[in-house]
Amino acid sequence: MIFEPQIDSGLIKDLAVAVVGYGNQGRAHALNLRDSGIKVTVGAREGRGRNWALDDGFEPTDIQIAVQYADVVVMTVPDEQMKPVFDGLVGPWLKHNATLLFAHGFAVVYEEIVPPFGAVLVSPAGPGKAVRDSYVEGGGVVAYVAAEPATLMPLAKSYGSAIGSSRVGLIPTTFREEVECDLFGEQVVLCGGMPLLALEAYASLVKAGYSRDVAHHECVAQIRLLADLMATRGLMGMWDGISDTAEWGALTVGPKIVSEEVKLAMSSALDRVRSGEFAREWIAEARSGKPNLDALRKSATDRLAELGLD
Ligand SMILES: NC(=O)c1ccc[n+]([C@@H]2O[C@H](COP(=O)([O-])OP(=O)(O)OC[C@H]3O[C@@H](n4cnc5c(N)ncnc54)[C@H](OP(=O)(O)O)[C@@H]3O)[C@@H](O)[C@H]2O)c1
Repeated sequence: MIFEPQIDSGLIKDLAVAVVGYGNQGRAHALNLRDSGIKVTVGAREGRGRNWALDDGFEPTDIQIAVQYADVVVMTVPDEQMKPVFDGLVGPWLKHNATLLFAHGFAVVYEEIVPPFGAVLVSPAGPGKAVRDSYVEGGGVVAYVAAEPATLMPLAKSYGSAIGSSRVGLIPTTFREEVECDLFGEQVVLCGGMPLLALEAYASLVKAGYSRDVAHHECVAQIRLLADLMATRGLMGMWDGISDTAEWGALTVGPKIVSEEVKLAMSSALDRVRSGEFAREWIAEARSGKPNLDALRKSATDRLAELGLD
């Protein structure tokens, strides 16, 4: 079920909102809220985000000052920083009954933060730039909405309206569903599985002596066109929109590539997300300065350079 598109930001109009962190999502939310007539303050540490907020005409303050009088505190710092920011700069200064608002439920689901007076989730299914650009153009980015307790759902919908998302749709969910599906989707398809599949397919063609240009076009560049077809027509529509030769190849060879072993790996990835194992591993990595992430980035960069890709 998707809530009917509507543009009345109602409830949130009477509340004071503090946006904590001014990065990808924080900037888009703060600007859209302000343009929707909502009273917004920005809390940001000294640095890049704070300078952006100044350039955008806000008067950013230290986080603990921004949150003191807020009815709604929007937590838009990186997920792995939520706990230290909340424990040190938000929690002790929070007004009684203030609602925490998250753009992703990671910190709540994995209990990095236990919201003292309830929390809402308004998670746009797109980057901050799209949230801002589409709002300015009169549209929005679809957002997942959830509330704990459920009595806060009207606030989530109202906030979703104020950032433009209800112009296209608000999808009701739970914090847990949003987090587990988001992590699974990005690991297995969007950011992990699909790009690596494309990379290894490209590498196979290059290794077999085909030109890099043709290999890139066939295995990487055309993904966008096929993704557009799937988004507009669905999976069957995409198969309808390609040649019978391509469809026969897809339906006979595709299952051999996405084999039983691959399905088991998917299932194991989901188990790790649901058990919290992935979250614990990532939080430990982030808190120790991300040494393994740096090493993995370096080997990925080296592999791309070896293949003539960036
Ligand atoms: N990125 C997306 O496309 C996307 C989409 C949907 C939901 N989300 C969610 O949105 C939330 C924010 O993510 P984001 O991508 O917007 O983050 P981001 O772009 O990395 O911005 C983070 C902001 O938090 C500040 N910050 C970082 N560490 C801090 C600390 N220890 N103390 C105080 N401030 C700190 C940064 O300050 P500086 O500017 O000084 O570094 C920056 O202003 C997350 O929950 C994320 O999962 C993101």
